[in-house]
Amino acid sequence: MFDTNIVNDPETVHSEINNSSQIVIKDLWKVFGRDSKRVLGRKYKVLSKDEIQEKTGCVIGLREINLEIKKGEFYILMGLSGSGKSTLIRNLIRLVKPTSGSIKINGKNLTKMNHEKLLKFRRQTFGMVFQHYGLFPHLTVLDNAAYGLKVRGISKEDRYTKAREVLETVGLKGWEDYHPGSLSGGMQQRVGLARALANDPEILLMDEPFSGLDPLIKRQMQDELIELQDKMQKTIIFVTHDLHEALKLGDRIAILRNGETVQVGTPEEIVTQPADDYVQDFVRDASPAKVITAGTIMEPAKIILYAWEGPKTALTLLRNNKRRAAFIVDKSHKLLGVAREDKLEELVNKPEKVGKIPASALRRVPSVGPDTILEDMFSIVTKNQYPVPVVDKNNRFLGVVTTDQIFESITPTEGEGNV
Ligand SMILES: Nc1ncnc2c1ncn2[C@@H]1O[C@H](COP(=O)(O)OP(=O)(O)OP(=O)(O)O)[C@@H](O)[C@H]1O
Ligand SMILES: [Mg+2]
Repeated sequence: MFDTNIVNDPETVHSEINNSSQIVIKDLWKVFGRDSKRVLGRKYKVLSKDEIQEKTGCVIGLREINLEIKKGEFYILMGLSGSGKSTLIRNLIRLVKPTSGSIKINGKNLTKMNHEKLLKFRRQTFGMVFQHYGLFPHLTVLDNAAYGLKVRGISKEDRYTKAREVLETVGLKGWEDYHPGSLSGGMQQRVGLARALANDPEILLMDEPFSGLDPLIKRQMQDELIELQDKMQKTIIFVTHDLHEALKLGDRIAILRNGETVQVGTPEEIVTQPADDYVQDFVRDASPAKVITAGTIMEPAKIILYAWEGPKTALTLLRNNKRRAAFIVDKSHKLLGVAREDKLEELVNKPEKVGKIPASALRRVPSVGPDTILEDMFSIVTKNQYPVPVVDKNNRFLGVVTTDQIFESITPTEGEGNV
């Protein structure tokens, strides 16, 4: 199953480490069939996948793939059956040998490693979760989870300790002595995940891991993976056919067709700016409200006032701008609340002079973060008479989103290819 060819130069390359990208794939081609390299010659290279197959008998698995994946990124591969998703994963882990091009991981060139180095590198770096779990039916859950560690020569005691730990992480404490056959599909996939995690891999490769599960279990597994990833911060490359899964899990999505990347983008970019009809077909059912974020559509607030500017200045500004309320911030731009015209009037008309606008005169309003999706804002905008303030983690004021903006951004725009 493994590619055992020793490739020319066993040295790994450290010189081109790109700090932000953990995986750098350049001009990667994988052609299946006899004498596959000839397909890369000028005569065939320009032809379509079907034409190449017809003329040479060779099948294009991947064609000129260029991708960069960041450390800690949740990266999705999508595309129709046969588009090359599994082939890309297999090339990454070098279960198949690229026909040409390079794959660098942490600056190390996988395409130039000899077999021995490759085996070691693969075991240290990758964890793999398959669609059909790939568990050994005759081994217990514990032994399945510990399998990768056994292959690495870890002592029984140490590997069992680690395997128990990861089984607990995936919610299977108490199931250690059972055999996979007595577990449900979802539980078996947890064992698969535990086995991949036991090695503490930097990169987790998941090829349609949840596609065999019932919808409810699938959703639950997705939620758990999100939670786990929050803690683990691994680089995950995840293959799926399911757009909703891709949008829910992915930081970025690459869409493949006939072995080529058609589009790479955030879920929001893919849904709102599909590169062509093929991508458009994928995202047709996607709801923009699930991917567009407050940060993308927010606008600067019309009036922002500092608390120390005082009620009189505030009132003048409001009237000059024909507004009834303004957002008030402190000196580090943290949002304090909304000051309404009538409250400011009250303060101005008080016999004693009021310097700063007091907190008691401010109305607290619900705010959202820049990553909040529109769907999660509906209930706020419908109840709220003010634009919704967008604030960062430190409550610093970034901008506002109005009801109009929300509905505008989820309404199809004719002729622009937007949804
Ligand atoms: N070992 C192989 N020998 C010949 N052709 C292959 C081999 N593996 C894959 N291919 C071809 O490469 C192309 C990409 O296949 P791949 O399995 O990567 O697709 P996929 O996107 O994973 O599809 P699916 O969604 O069905 O899993 C297909 O045309 C396939 O026929
Ligand atoms: Mg596949």
